[in-house]
Amino acid sequence: MKKNVMLAGIRATGKLHIGNYLGALKQFVELGNDPKNECYFFVADLHALTTPFEPDQLRHDTLEVVAEYIAAGLDPKKSALFLQNHVSEHAELAWIFNCITPLGELERMTQYKDKSKQHKDNINAGLLTYPTLMAADILMYKPNGVPVGDDQVQHIELARIVARKFNNKFGQTFPEPKPYERKPLRIMSLKDPSKKMSKTGDDALWISDSPEEISRKLKKAVTATDGSGSDGVENLLLLLRHFGTKPQIQYFEDGLKQDTIKYSELKETLAKEIADYFADFRERKRELMSDKNKLASILADGAGRAKQTAQETLLEVKKKIGLL
Ligand code: TRP
Repeated sequence: MKKNVMLAGIRATGKLHIGNYLGALKQFVELGNDPKNECYFFVADLHALTTPFEPDQLRHDTLEVVAEYIAAGLDPKKSALFLQNHVSEHAELAWIFNCITPLGELERMTQYKDKSKQHKDNINAGLLTYPTLMAADILMYKPNGVPVGDDQVQHIELARIVARKFNNKFGQTFPEPKPYERKPLRIMSLKDPSKKMSKTGDDALWISDSPEEISRKLKKAVTATDGSGSDGVENLLLLLRHFGTKPQIQYFEDGLKQDTIKYSELKETLAKEIADYFADFRERKRELMSDKNKLASILADGAGRAKQTAQETLLEVKKKIGLL
């Protein structure tokens, strides 16, 4: 039976918050566990080099994100889990794509424009060619779907342009990749519910937080209604809908309607449910982080599996374009 090939790159930015978990990781775990899918998940560590980085931090963040993915239920036996730099075919194919991608297409990418404004003193060539490496990541595995958030849709579009160019010039090789719509989900900041929860804010609810930290952060969460529709209570209820039980959800939704809701009670319930939900996760993550050899062997195994497909694709490409 032909499987549904799915693939996604993971940013090498270290530990994940609850918005990352619900918005991406949880959905990746579900995709990976579905026997109809053949999944490739990799940490985009080469992409991480395009913005300022520290070697020690990069090493740590890379391992931490891998440990969190596995601890949260991504099964490296079912999905190929690897580091982008371990499958060097990605960088090779990216070079070939660089040579067929019009400069203008890269210069108009919104991420390039934003990041070159943000890092004025480090507008390196990798920032510009980020999308051709991503096109290589994707087209390498000829996926049926690429689960990404809205912010990455333009990059998928560029991968389609690259595929089309390649196919036109060298014969049908790459199916045009499609974004696989992730369920859109916006978990807001606990302190300022008008903003999305972010990794840089000091109030992110990390999925590795201890029960005490979860409880402390939720206690301080803003519950005032500001009338803009981005209110803190709605955000807490959204979390409860993911982590609470049906009766709990019903109870607090009724309370909100009838104006009898006690915010402190809602926060306590939520803190307990979230802490319980991630209890096994915290333990598994701790174990994995203390066994770097095990992580290394999982990653080596994942890279080995990815390489089988990657080598095939690269060989096909080299033949078609006349590289001996
Ligand atoms: N650019 C993606 C992000 O910032 C990460 C990524 C790299 C990716 N290569 C990919 C995602 C290939 C999907 C497919 O989130």
